[in-house]
Amino acid sequence: MLSVKHNDPVEFTDELLGKFAEIVARYPEGRQKSALLPILHEVQAVYGWLSVPAMDRVAAYLGIEPIEVYEVATFYTMFFLRPPGKYALEVCRTGPCCLVGAERIMKHIETRLGVKEGEVTPDGLFSWRGVECLAACGYGPVLQIGPEYTFYENLTEESVDKLIDELKEKAAAIG
Ligand code: FES
Repeated sequence: MLSVKHNDPVEFTDELLGKFAEIVARYPEGRQKSALLPILHEVQAVYGWLSVPAMDRVAAYLGIEPIEVYEVATFYTMFFLRPPGKYALEVCRTGPCCLVGAERIMKHIETRLGVKEGEVTPDGLFSWRGVECLAACGYGPVLQIGPEYTFYENLTEESVDKLIDELKEKAAAIG
């Protein structure tokens, strides 16, 4: 994954531009804006998040206004608008999960990690945030961890602690 800070200029690689071209070719002539969502996914896969300069480059590539890219990127919670931690915990905060304790779980994660929603722990390992329905409503509270999007269901404070401990051990083992 390529590292980029907030205002770093972004130059897309030929490989990435090739993917853009493949995606745009799926849509009718003049409808290149339809390629915006899959292109943003490709950009996020390379950089880990969507910086403003990266979104501006996407706008220029598609021949649309930057605001059109920002509107989409800020609407969908699957996009990160600031760098996440190595393990980005995303807790469903939609009604059914809240009824079975999602807010309590988010509060617990905040306390356990010592960072507020969207912030990254000083070691760079974790960030967390609430997201909309993860389509596992019968198994709440639920969280997923990007970028592989592994699911963890029926969360309790204890299972969250165990998960965080396991991820720390995994990160230490990877080095
Ligand atoms: Fe949480 Fe659907 S409401 S997964």
